[in-house]
Amino acid sequence: MSFSLKMMNNNKSQSNRIQSVKMESAKMKSANTGYYGQKLYRKHLHLYINEKSQRNNMKQKTSILALASYLPDKKITNQDLEKILDTSNEWIVKRTGIANRHIMTDQDTVTSMAISNCAPLIEIAAKEKRAITSVIVATSTSLTMPSIACQVCNHYDIDNAFAFDVNAACSGFIYALNLANDRIKNHQEDCILVIGVDAMSQIIDWKDRSTAVLFGDGSGAVLLNRSDRSGLVAIKCGSSANGSEMLKTESKNGQSQLTMQGKEVFKYAVEKLFQAASNLLSEHHIDVESIDWIVPHQANIRILQQLMKKLCIPEHKLILTLKNHANTSAASIPLALDSATKSGKIKRGDRLLFLAFGAGFTWGAAILDY
Ligand code: ACO
Repeated sequence: MSFSLKMMNNNKSQSNRIQSVKMESAKMKSANTGYYGQKLYRKHLHLYINEKSQRNNMKQKTSILALASYLPDKKITNQDLEKILDTSNEWIVKRTGIANRHIMTDQDTVTSMAISNCAPLIEIAAKEKRAITSVIVATSTSLTMPSIACQVCNHYDIDNAFAFDVNAACSGFIYALNLANDRIKNHQEDCILVIGVDAMSQIIDWKDRSTAVLFGDGSGAVLLNRSDRSGLVAIKCGSSANGSEMLKTESKNGQSQLTMQGKEVFKYAVEKLFQAASNLLSEHHIDVESIDWIVPHQANIRILQQLMKKLCIPEHKLILTLKNHANTSAASIPLALDSATKSGKIKRGDRLLFLAFGAGFTWGAAILDY
């Protein structure tokens, strides 16, 4: 029996049980059967309230209602980079798996990428008559005031939302998802917009071949809702107390630019991603074989190959977009997710494992039944 069918049947039998308890309770109330009868009535009422709260809890899964993404029109290939840097297509492909990246034009800004990205999701929310109550934007390349989240609200006339930006570098999308999940579970919110957007081209030193070849710009977003069928099964984020010097921005010639100890970052990434995934799976007693697709942060194909080997997951379960998108930081997971659902690779009901690692160091892992 499929997972969603099982859930539907469970709900049905639960609502039948609640219905019969309700009827019995009503009967007892009208019979006015004295002290023992009242006690029995209270017992049934208690059972009813328990069942009702259980049913409400089941309705509290954070589910993905819709997805969207945006990439700037301008593309830079490895061959284009060969013209401005002492590098080669062969070196970049072999060491990273990257062939192309999209870069903002003069018309784009981090905010405009986020706004363009959201248009189809705002339409869906309006069509379904759902009020968006939170807008959470993951980004580490925007220093705007007001936040991008508030600018998205202004643009689409979303009033009264809990709206703010979060900076957890490349792990930002999973951090934002974690916060949205808390809002859905603890504040009973029903419709939340989560956006991952970054313009790494703004903080790259285009003369540094060791970093310039790795990154791209883009944006991806998800519209989340509360569901009793499928959704987030487990999520955990964390950070390290000793990694902040290895990957960071520094002020150079009046500009904020990225510096990185590539080899060290590589080793930490493999280890921390492995720990994040294996801890989440074991803490929630989830068999790794139940995972249909890994949707990882897209940093380097060699990081991901080593990770799959350590987790004993076959590489064909990896969703990969880094060849054409490169590393788009907080945007890379929603971009990969949108691309794989549009191509038909990821289907409704599939179990997904999101994994991210970034500057901080930060990391995050999430398991979601799509
Ligand atoms: N083209 C040609 N040669 C290059 C380039 C380039 N673009 N970059 C570096 N080299 C040279 C180096 O100068 C060095 O030359 P040398 O042997 O003469 O000194 C040689 O290639 C090897 O350099 P290494 O730094 O040892 O290369 P390595 O195999 O470690 O690959 C890389 C470098 C791709 C950056 C790798 O370390 C890496 O991917 N690290 C992970 C970093 C990452 O993904 N960061 C993203 C942000 S964090 C995150 O998202 C996970």
